[in-house]
Formats: sequence, structure tokens, C-alpha cells
Amino acid sequence: MSKALSTTVQPFHVMDILARCKQMEAQGIDVVHMEIGEPDFPTPEPIIQAGMQALQVGATQYTSAQGLPELRQALSNYYLNRFSAEVDADEIIITPGASGALQLLFAALLQDKKKLMLCDPSYPCYANLSRIHGAERIAVAVDESSQFQITLELVERNWQTGIAAVMVANPSNPTGTLCDVDELKRIAEFLEQRDAYLIVDEIYQGLVYTGESKSLAAAADNVFVLNSFSKFFGMTGWRLGWLTAAKKHIPALDAIAQNSYLASSTISQHAAIAAFNADTQLILEQRRQQFQTRRDFVCQALADMGLTLSCMPQGAFYLYVNIAKLNIDSFDFCQQLLQEQALAITPGCDFGQYRANEFVRLAYTTSEDRLAEGMRRLAEFIA
Ligand SMILES: Cc1ncc(COP(=O)(O)O)c(C=O)c1O
Repeated sequence: MSKALSTTVQPFHVMDILARCKQMEAQGIDVVHMEIGEPDFPTPEPIIQAGMQALQVGATQYTSAQGLPELRQALSNYYLNRFSAEVDADEIIITPGASGALQLLFAALLQDKKKLMLCDPSYPCYANLSRIHGAERIAVAVDESSQFQITLELVERNWQTGIAAVMVANPSNPTGTLCDVDELKRIAEFLEQRDAYLIVDEIYQGLVYTGESKSLAAAADNVFVLNSFSKFFGMTGWRLGWLTAAKKHIPALDAIAQNSYLASSTISQHAAIAAFNADTQLILEQRRQQFQTRRDFVCQALADMGLTLSCMPQGAFYLYVNIAKLNIDSFDFCQQLLQEQALAITPGCDFGQYRANEFVRLAYTTSEDRLAEGMRRLAEFIA
């Protein structure tokens, strides 16, 4: 009999929490969900209509691995109009979600050099996927002093030979904080001199509430930007994202895409073109404002409980809350909160190790009514 497969890759604790929620809900318990990073809004109607039309006209065959030229052109226009960034349609690769873009980049960048620098805390797939690619992770502890973001000084201090790339998310998951784009450009320059690359995950870039939303796309030859239709565009299940890269890198990435998945979903690509029409943009802007209202509501409710955030998240839909003063490990806190109050949130240990036992992540991806109920339960639990 063959041996069962095994892996050192860790599952998400949030998935265990979700499974526990399902069991509780099957018993008729009303669970408030603030654990999962998925918007509660449906895909905007114009995108759904465009997807249905694509099906009706029989757009069901492969596209090129790089993706539909019309969609890449729409993205190129979007960068120009919204971010004043000149990204040629040929410098864009359509991928199966931002996850697909990460796979392409890690396959391309981590094959020879085997080290990836990333923040602790950060989105868990960065560490897990780089592990799948056999890479070593250089985790840089980040905290309130740098808005939980990497700085040039931190990169310099933690630098070692063999690092292929530095991975950042702007805004960050789990903290929702932003990184200064000029600082990122300085980091890119530092990396350029060391023949290394900067990967910027801008998946939450459409959801920025304070100041101007800026993109690093086309900022330098050694910068890769990834993004997705999942979060801001409300298309998680359509599995569609993209990657921007300098033209000279496209052939290698295209070859990896061809061999990994042939092409992204054709129907989703046709549907996504409608994400950039005026009607859809209006819907998305209204949703962005709703997220901002939710953020402000939850921040105030937390402050009323004595849980003041040390840095105000400027984007995404997460709050990374320090619960150290409650004298309980954050993992136990999440378990007990779910058990006793049926409120689901995520423990810090899903995002790294550095002070993970002090933090929990709250996602404001549910309606204001449900958030109010969640905050009532949290206050009761703490009391
Ligand atoms: C920071 C970040 N990057 C990438 C992803 C992957 O998203 P998708 O593959 O749905 O585009 C997520 C999903 O939660 C995320 O939070």
C-alpha cells in the first residue's frame, strides 16, 4: 500500500474555526461571522450580466495564457485613469486570483535563490506557498512602530545573501495598514542593487479609506504587483486576478502560466471587463464607503470596550486588535469567544509568530446589524 501524503504546510486556524461554526449552526446556534476575509456583497450585477452573455455567445474555450487582450487593455486604462500609472496591456498577465499570481512569481523567483523576506504578521499563504516551493522564509517582525509594515531600515537590518525577493501587502492583511509608496520605491532600489525583486500585493488597494490609493505598478523593472477581482470587485468565486511585470519578464511568466494552468477562466475574464464600466465603478465606490462606515463603527465599539487600536487601519476590511491586557492567549480567546458567545474571529497565530498570542483579527465583512451584534457579544464576553 502506498504511504499517505504528508506536508509541513500548516492549515489555517480560521478554517478550523469556520468548520466549528458550521457545526454550531447545524445545531441552530446563531453565529456572528467576523473571521473570514470575504466581502458579504454579491458580485455587481453588470459583471454577472457580462458573464452570462459570455456563456450565451459560447465564449467557453481557452484564452491565451496571458489573458484576454480586451481585459488587459481595460486594466491598463484603469491604472492610467485611477493611479496615473503607465502599465502597458502587454505588461499584464491575467491569473486565477491573486493566488495564481503568487504561484507564478514564486515559481519564477524562488527556483534558484531560495529565500523570501516577508513580514510577521502577514497573509499566511506567502509563507506556506514559499515553503511548497522549497524556499526559506526570512520573517521580519513588524509592529506598531512601523504601522505593521516593512521599512528600508528593516530590510537592511535583516538582509542576508540568497534572498530572491521581499514580499509586502499594501494595504496589509491582517492589519489593514498602508506602506508609504516612496519607502517601497527606496526598498526596490536597494533590492535592484542586490539583484533581488519586490513583490507588492495590492489586492486590497481598491479598499483604501484614508488618503490617496497609490499603486506601485510599473514603478521599476524589479517590482511585481499583484491584484485580484476577488475583494474590491466582489468576485471571490470567479477566481480571477492579475500581475503586472516589466515586459522583459513576461515570456518567463507566460511559460510558467502555460504549463501551470494553461489559462484563467474565459467566462470570468469576459465578465471582468464589465468591472470597469461606470455603473460597476459606482456600485464599488458605494461599497467602499460602506466598508469605511463599518470600520469606523467597529473601531469606536472596540474603543468603548477599552480596546483602542494603536494604529488606525487605512484600508482592507480587517482590524488587528491587541488583547494583551485581557491576560489571555489570543488562540484561547478566539476559542472561548466562539464557544460562549458564538462570535467567530481569527487568532494572531494564523499570520505569524511575532506577538501572535497578543492579537486577534476582526473582519468587518458583514452587515452593520451583524457587526453591532458581534460587538455586543464581544463586550459581554470581555465583561
Ligand atoms: C493579502 C491577500 N493576498 C492574496 C489573497 C488571495 O486572494 P485571491 O486568490 O482570491 O485573489 C488574499 C485572500 O484572502 C489575501 O488576503
